[in-house]
Amino acid sequence: MRISQAAVLAVASLVYAQNATQASNASHAVVQLPSEWLYLLPQPFNSSIRYSWLNSTTTGNDTINRALEEANQSRFVSYSDEFTQLVGPNPNVSTIQCPQGAPECAFEAGVWLPDTDEVWFTYLDFDYPYNQSITSFSLRNGSAQQVVTDPPIRYPLGGYYFSYDGLVYFTEYNAATSPATIITVDPKTLHVTPILNSYQGIPLAPCDDVVVTRVNNKDYIFLTTFSLRDVLGSKFPRQRYDTAVWRFDLHEKVLQPVISANEIVAPNGIRVSPNGRTLYVTNTAITDQSKLEDQASNITKSNSIYEYDLNDQGKPVNGRLFGLVRSGIANGLHIDNAGRSFNYIPFHPIDQPRIGNFALAGNKLVIGADTFVVVYELAEKLVTPGNLLTN
Ligand SMILES: *[C@@H]1O[C@H](CO)[C@@H](O)[C@H](O)[C@H]1NC(C)=O
Ligand SMILES: *[C@@H]1O[C@H](CO)[C@@H](O)[C@H](O)[C@H]1NC(C)=O
Ligand SMILES: *[C@@H]1O[C@H](CO)[C@@H](O)[C@H](O)[C@H]1NC(C)=O
Ligand SMILES: *[C@@H]1O[C@H](CO)[C@@H](O)[C@H](O)[C@H]1NC(C)=O
Ligand SMILES: *[C@@H]1O[C@H](CO)[C@@H](O)[C@H](O)[C@H]1NC(C)=O
Ligand SMILES: *[C@@H]1O[C@H](CO)[C@@H](O)[C@H](O)[C@H]1NC(C)=O
Ligand SMILES: *[C@@H]1O[C@H](CO)[C@@H](O)[C@H](O)[C@H]1NC(C)=O
Ligand SMILES: *[C@@H]1O[C@H](CO)[C@@H](O)[C@H](O)[C@H]1NC(C)=O
Ligand SMILES: *[C@@H]1O[C@H](CO)[C@@H](O)[C@H](O)[C@H]1NC(C)=O
Ligand SMILES: *[C@@H]1O[C@H](CO)[C@@H](O)[C@H](O)[C@H]1NC(C)=O
Repeated sequence: MRISQAAVLAVASLVYAQNATQASNASHAVVQLPSEWLYLLPQPFNSSIRYSWLNSTTTGNDTINRALEEANQSRFVSYSDEFTQLVGPNPNVSTIQCPQGAPECAFEAGVWLPDTDEVWFTYLDFDYPYNQSITSFSLRNGSAQQVVTDPPIRYPLGGYYFSYDGLVYFTEYNAATSPATIITVDPKTLHVTPILNSYQGIPLAPCDDVVVTRVNNKDYIFLTTFSLRDVLGSKFPRQRYDTAVWRFDLHEKVLQPVISANEIVAPNGIRVSPNGRTLYVTNTAITDQSKLEDQASNITKSNSIYEYDLNDQGKPVNGRLFGLVRSGIANGLHIDNAGRSFNYIPFHPIDQPRIGNFALAGNKLVIGADTFVVVYELAEKLVTPGNLLTN
């Protein structure tokens, strides 16, 4: 019941922030539209699959057109009373800039550390010219600083704070001289420990995102590898294994592929439900980054989100489609205490600055916008420190 409720809410709970800069001046913070308009409109109506539905949908009814235009300009769009209440009438919005010397520091990860109320993001580009590439944004004092780990981390991307062991798990991309690796960072000592980097001697494909969960008292790392050649360029050579979702059993110390590219062409974001029994994986089925706007109209791709049950052995089973992404790409994914999920595309138009990921931090929604983060203070808590499996 929880699961089907989560599915409905995820569709209903789209958050839309037009442009992080413009957004803070939006005339309306929250506009609630009838959810019926998502599937039933008076004829004639017209919409372009290349653009978001609010940007491009018109009907023969001026009242509906005005409401859509108003929603298109507002920071949050709600399709249910529950989501309107969650956002609150006028969510406080503030920004925190990347620190000096670390431009474009806020793109991937989005890891909330409840003890210190900071959010860690990783950089935007694969050519980031800094050896330290995690930035901490303090939600207490609104400042940002680079996280200096030992040893330095060069190419981290996705991250997850696992509160059972108090460690932050990161994926590291491969580089010319280093394989993709899953590492942990102890937020207290900033000490880095490598966990895995290969399968039977073959380096993993570039690791994109990671989540850690507990099923039947056993802890498992789930990670996505992502090796789309044209997107990432020659610096990151394609390895022999294709893209896959892998699982590492932290008790038995066994690494296994659990979802192949036959099921998900390019697994990217990955998270579990609050009860630890549903795994969500985004599918970034792009082969040409210049054609982001054509994703949904190309039947050879499936730019989408999948869900799987995690069975008693912690294996993903019963994979099924959860949602299609209309434009842009399916990237980072987070799930709140109530099993509600947020996805990339509603937050932002497809043009720059790109948004890859975000964090849920208590009652705050923290969106990475390349050179700064946007912090929305909502009316209700999304995640609480005591909730161990959503982050
Ligand atoms: C937003 O408001 C600020 C001042 O409150 C103003 O300087 C800025 O130009 C406004 N931006 C837009 C896009 O209206
Ligand atoms: C529908 O919108 C497209 C552009 O998005 C436009 O080319 C077309 O003429 C429109 N059709 C109608 C009937 O308004
Ligand atoms: C939606 O907002 C964007 C950005 O402000 C604007 O360019 C576009 O024309 C708007 N679309 C509609 C249908 O109002
Ligand atoms: C236009 O849509 C609104 C909202 O659904 C509805 O109340 C109204 O009757 C419609 N107007 C016409 C002329 O159909
Ligand atoms: C909005 O957030 C900022 C930064 O956290 C804070 O300084 C300010 O007091 C908040 N304003 C309100 C009205 O809560
Ligand atoms: C990064 O580390 C490498 C190896 O330690 C060093 O040669 C290089 O100068 C460092 N680059 C920067 C920008 O600090
Ligand atoms: C903000 O808080 C962090 C701890 O979360 C601390 O490391 C940093 O020095 C503080 N910055 C300022 C400007 O107070
Ligand atoms: C759909 O995507 C595939 C793979 O990128 C590409 O080869 C094909 O040309 C695309 N088709 C259209 C109609 O854009
Ligand atoms: C909105 O649609 C127009 C075409 O009608 C397009 O030029 C523009 O890029 C779109 N904006 C967004 C934010 O999708
Ligand atoms: C966002 O708004 C600012 C201020 O109006 C503008 O400079 C910037 O180009 C806009 N970015 C996008 C992606 O529309």
